[in-house]
Formats: sequence, C-alpha cells, structure tokens
Amino acid sequence: MSDVGNITAGHHTGHEGDYLFDPAWNRESERLRANESLWDQGTVERLERLGVGAGWSCLEVGAGQGSIVRWMAERVGPTGRILAADLDIGPLKRLENPPVELRRLDVRTDELPGAAFDLVHARMVLQHLEDPATAVRRMVRALRPGGVLFVEDTDALTLFRSAASEDFLKDVHTAAYQVMEQTGYSMRGGHFDHRAALDVGLEDVWAEGRAVMVQGGSLRARMYVLWLEYLRPELLAQGLLTEERVDEAVRAMNDPANHWLSQVLISTYGRKPA
Ligand SMILES: C[S@@+](CC[C@H](N)C(=O)[O-])C[C@H]1O[C@@H](n2cnc3c(N)ncnc32)[C@H](O)[C@@H]1O
Repeated sequence: MSDVGNITAGHHTGHEGDYLFDPAWNRESERLRANESLWDQGTVERLERLGVGAGWSCLEVGAGQGSIVRWMAERVGPTGRILAADLDIGPLKRLENPPVELRRLDVRTDELPGAAFDLVHARMVLQHLEDPATAVRRMVRALRPGGVLFVEDTDALTLFRSAASEDFLKDVHTAAYQVMEQTGYSMRGGHFDHRAALDVGLEDVWAEGRAVMVQGGSLRARMYVLWLEYLRPELLAQGLLTEERVDEAVRAMNDPANHWLSQVLISTYGRKPA
C-alpha cells in the first residue's frame, strides 16, 4: 500500500486494492444508473442469446443498482432463482422478492454457493479486483456442470474517440485512468477475462466487444460527467489536471454538439464441462 495508491477523492479513504468507487458518495447510484443506460441493451441481447428463460437459476455478481437482476427475475419467473450479490446490497433491497435473493459478499474473500447455477454473470466487476483469477475460479465453482460463465469488462482504448478531433478529452482519459489504475483497476480488464476463461478449463470459450456512441448532454454522457466528478479531487490533488481543465471537460461532455465513443465492453462466455 502506498500513499499514491490512495484514492481519497473527497469521499473515499480506500487503499490500493479497495473498490474504487465509494457507494456512500451521494451521486454513486446516479452514476451506476447512467452506466446501466449505456450497457443494458447489449447485455440483455446477450442474455437472450444465451437462452436465459423460465426456471433458470442465475447468480449476478456485483449487481450494482440491479437493472440486470430485475430483467433476469422477470425472465426466469417463479420457478427460477436469482441470487444478487454485491459488497453493498442497499440499492438492491427493493428487488428482494422471490425469485430474487440478496447476499452481501466480497467476491475477493467470500465463497459462493457451490455447483448451483445455470448462469453466473458479472459486468464491470472483475477489472476492479487485484486478483480476478481467484474470483473467476469462485464463479466457476458456483456453476452447475454445463452452466455458463458470462463476464463483461472493458478495454478503455476507444473511450473519447471522436470525429471532432484526435485530441478530444485525451488528457482527461490519460489522467483519469492513471488515478484509477492506482487502486488496482485494470483499464484492459476485458482481455484478462478471455484468458481466464480458457485457463480455468471452460469449454466453448469465446469473446466479443461492443462500443456505444455517446452524445454530450445525454443520460449516457452523464455517466462520464459523474465519473470525472468522482475523480476530480484526486486528479487535482495529484496535479494531473487543473480545476479549469476539469470544468472545461465537463462542459464538453454536457454539450450535445459533441459525440464520442465509449470504452469497448468485452463479453466473454464459457461453459463448465458437464
Ligand atoms: C462498476 S459497478 C457495476 C455494477 C453492475 N454490475 C453494472 O454493470 O451495472 C461494480 C459493482 O461491483 C461491486 N463490487 C466491487 N467489488 C466487489 C467485490 N469485491 N465483491 C462484490 N462486489 C463488488 C460494486 O459494489 C459495484 O456494485
């Protein structure tokens, strides 16, 4: 643990290896809902392709605000089971009705129920962990034989690519990911997932990526505004960006004339041998 590894950001006193975002930050649920607006459509299309349906038993790790849990619950119906797990289950309480069960757990240290699920899904969780391989092994143990692991993490390379200019928010990208990586976050986490699925002995492993176009001022753009606001104190404290530059970047993200590409979200799939 080093001092440089601390992300205080005015709302979090975590150390290297702690989860980057503080659930107690007063805009964290808004940030996560905006994040859902970016990625849910693609995740749901993929869950449909995997055949999630009546009677399925699913585990959602790092369930966040629960939009995917809600979708799964409707899909699997009363004969199914959804276990929604997170470090912080406060935002999920409103979903706690059959077939949804909640469990507060830390996937770094806590075991998951063994050989129980048809599907285990985690989106934008593994890339926050210092030791994602251990979490992947836990998630695979939670699958029944023949069950499917479906994990999604990003490669940040494409973020802020824009037709406007090669330089659009480039300095913000560099500085923000520098701060994020100090907590052990991997900006290329999606690549790890594919290797991990192969290494752990899953079958039919494959992976693909998607990116979303974002218009300034939209709900999707709001995710990036809140992300930058969360990081602002640490960016300033480390002298990586000036207050004026952060303000300018927020104005650019709120301007409907600007369009940019998101990160690539890499989806990786594999089946536990029967
Ligand atoms: C970036 S958010 C993504 C939320 C949700 N999966 C989504 O895509 O909308 C990461 C989520 O993982 C949870 N999380 C982070 N580290 C975790 C851990 N070690 N064990 C369990 N959950 C964790 C956080 O609390 C947060 O809800």
